[in-house]
Parts: sequence; structure tokens; C-alpha cells
Amino acid sequence: MTTADLGGITPLRYEERPDSPWRRLGLDGQTVNPIPSMISSDESLYLHWLAREYYRGEGEIVDGGCLLGGSTLCLATGLEANQHVFPKQGRIHSYDLFQFWEGFRGHVLPNDTHLKEGDSLLPIFLRNIQAFRKYVQVEPGDIVTKRWTAGPIEIFFIDVAKSWQIHNHLMREFFPQLIPGRSIVVHQDYFHYGCWWIHLTMQQLEEYFQVAHNPCGGTLSFRLLKKIPDEVLRQDFSKAFSREQIEVLMDRAIAPAEGVLRSILLSAKACALAEHKAFEAAAAAVEEARRVEPWDDLALYDVIHAEAMVPGDLLYPKIADASTVVAASRRYVVCRQNEAFCAVSRGEAGCDAACAPHAGSGVVSCQSLEDVSRVIGERVLPVPSATILVGSHRDYNLLWYAGRVWGVPLRLGHVDIALPRNQARHGVLCGRSCRELIGMIDGKIPPAAAPHPARAWRRWLGRLFGP
Ligand SMILES: C[S@@+](CC[C@H](N)C(=O)[O-])C[C@H]1O[C@@H](n2cnc3c(N)ncnc32)[C@H](O)[C@@H]1O
Repeated sequence: MTTADLGGITPLRYEERPDSPWRRLGLDGQTVNPIPSMISSDESLYLHWLAREYYRGEGEIVDGGCLLGGSTLCLATGLEANQHVFPKQGRIHSYDLFQFWEGFRGHVLPNDTHLKEGDSLLPIFLRNIQAFRKYVQVEPGDIVTKRWTAGPIEIFFIDVAKSWQIHNHLMREFFPQLIPGRSIVVHQDYFHYGCWWIHLTMQQLEEYFQVAHNPCGGTLSFRLLKKIPDEVLRQDFSKAFSREQIEVLMDRAIAPAEGVLRSILLSAKACALAEHKAFEAAAAAVEEARRVEPWDDLALYDVIHAEAMVPGDLLYPKIADASTVVAASRRYVVCRQNEAFCAVSRGEAGCDAACAPHAGSGVVSCQSLEDVSRVIGERVLPVPSATILVGSHRDYNLLWYAGRVWGVPLRLGHVDIALPRNQARHGVLCGRSCRELIGMIDGKIPPAAAPHPARAWRRWLGRLFGP
């Protein structure tokens, strides 16, 4: 987008701006949003301000993806304090699956929650927003199955565009109801590696939008300038972009961003290209993402997840067996070498079975990932596709794979936990942390059902709860 389209907000930075209108309200993010939530303090204040000061009641407020009600509460308290809009009842429409997913454990829900995969979160949501219930129409279920019949939409908060399919549905069903010159679209997943459809689409539709606000977090919001023709919104966006367009549109999205936001958008570009099987260009994009200065460790999560979409032999051509790569930092990749972890400088990546003796020439060898991190002085994260034996407890081996810890009974011998059929084997346990898994083995925590095996890895990559 051009500087003019950025509405004067340039560069895009990951920072709280004390002079932003939502900060000038003098409120505290934690007070406005005390609910365990995936939105930041600045984003909470921003949503509150939008519903309180910006909203004129010319259309409805859509709260797309509200989880336990964090975004809902911010919007509802804002609406309650709004001096211009009457009546206010039912003006917020909150959409969510309201289903427990293991990824929520230890994050927005306690480690020892008794909820199982698929259990309803609706009672928790309703309890959390109880005092503001009258402002909210709750729409439980898959948003792709929902029709919008409530007229114009003035504020469209989107924290639910987790796939091309959902994104297409939002464009077809909800976007036609946006009010030119008035409506704000809040893309909460804009600064995230895994929602490249948002960048591609918003850039393709740039003549219709102007960047409105850039609160600190994953959010970039847009004001609709003029009506978007229905035939444009009805297209299948997943098939709309050639490889060349992806490069051009993503570069335009990246241009105004600095620091961690730039690394994140470059990671999103890598994913978009990898989906298009343009793997060499994708590898170049993640390389650029890692080189961004000033570097912020916050970006490592996005960079490593984007790298997971690129074949290892392109990312680390000199590493003899890319499947031995189990973790990475900004400047190092970490291979598993028998009992040791071997960190190899990416610049000098020449690791093979004999890398440990080269310690001192860009290679270090350690007993644990924590040691690696301490020695190289960088944050280290496991790569999502790696399987790591993290320890054992009683008669179980504990393996790290696809963002979870798996308990494999010793009697099963060596088991490749990456294989869905092995994840489903009798006795195999799955949890979010070692502590949780040990609790299951000790019988203190009920065993959680393993995620549907075939979906475990896709979900880890595709369900985006990071930002
Ligand atoms: C990042 S979380 C939302 C966080 C929330 N806005 C907050 O303030 O904490 C994304 C939400 O999207 C929901 N979701 C994902 N796919 C969905 C779908 N197809 N239909 C409805 N909700 C969906 C998830 O259940 C999840 O609660």
C-alpha cells in the first residue's frame, strides 16, 4: 500500500503508542480485558475504544473468533460506555466454535483443566461475559455454515480467518455488508506467518481500503473507502494469485513494516510461496526474515513455522540429513547427534555425522536444547516437524513432536510418532507439556484423547493461536 493508503501510519512497528486515541482513554488493558485471551493489552484497549468512540451504530459489530470472550468483553464494555448509540442490545455478534482444543491447555485454560478435545467452551464464554450479555448475540458453530442477515456491518473484528475456506466465506457473506467510508475491518491475524490470504487479498483490494490503525499485537485494521463489487468478493481467493502476483503483493505488504513485523510478514510471504511450490523463493524469504535488523526474538516462532513449509535440503543444503534438524535459532540449526544436540551456524552449515568434533568452527555440541541456547546466546525453538526424545517417566518414553509431548509405552519399543497410526496406538498419551503428561502417567490428570492423528500436524501448523 502507498503511504497515503497507510493513512499516515508508517512505518508499521510493534510498539504501543502513548498518543494513540485508545491509550489516551487512560485505561489499563488488564482491567478492560481480565479474561484469559489471545489478544494483547493494546489490542484490548483498541477494541474497547472502537466500540466506545468510533462506533456510530450505522451497522452491527461482528466479533469473529471470540474464544473465551476476551474480544467480546472489550467490545461490550466499549459499547456500554458509547454516548452516541441507542439502543445497544444485541449489537455485537460473536462467532466461535466454542470447542476445547489441546492447544488451549496451559495457555488460556489451566494445565489441569478436565476439558477434553471438542468439549464445549460456551459455558465459560457465557460466564465471562455475563454482565454484558444483553449486548451480545452468540453464534456458536462453524462460521462457514453461517449466513449473515443482520444488515450493515460497521466494525468487523476478524480473529477467525484461519484458512482459505473461512477467508472466502467472510469475503462472500460478510464483506458485502461493510459501509463505504465508515466500516473498519480489524484483521487480528495480520502480523502472523500463517494467514497469507489476508495480505494477498487486502493488497489486491487496496483501492478499496485505507489502513486505519496499528495497535501493538497481531492487528492491522482497515477502513473501507468504497463499495467492493460483489463479483470481486465472490471469487475463490485461494485460486486468485499467480506466483508472480504473490511476490508483488507480499512485497507491497512488507514494505512499510519494520523489525519483528517485517520478519513476520516475510515469513507469511515464504508460506504463500511454499504453498505455490515456489520453494526456492520461499527459502529466500525466510532467510531475509532472519536477517531483519533490529532482530526481535518474538519473530522466531513465525520464522521457524514458515521454514517448516520449505524442504530441509533447500534450507540447510550442507546438512547431510535434514531430518536430523530438531530445533533452530536465528543463526543456528540444531541437529540431533546420538545423545547430543549439535548446533551448527547456518552460515557455515556443514553438519554431518561427524560435526561434534568440529566444535569451535561454528559448531557446538550440548546435552540439551537449554544448554544449546545458553552456549550460543540465542533463543532456540524446536522445529515443528522434529521428534525429540525429551526423557522418560516410569514405563513411558516422552517424545516431543508437532508441538505436543507424547507418552509412548516402553513395551512398544521404537515408535515413529510422526505416523498417524502410531499416534492412535493403544496406550499412547498426548499432552501439551511434560508436566501434564507425567500427571497423566501418574494418574493425576485424566488422559486426554489424542488429537485426530491425521490432523495433528496440520492443526499445529494451521490453527493459529500464537499472536
Ligand atoms: C485466536 S482465537 C480467538 C481469540 C479471541 N479473539 C480472544 O480475544 O482471546 C481464534 C478462535 O477462532 C475460532 N475458530 C477457528 N475456526 C473457526 C470456525 N471455523 N468457526 C468459528 N470459529 C472458529 C477458534 O475456536 C478460536 O476460539
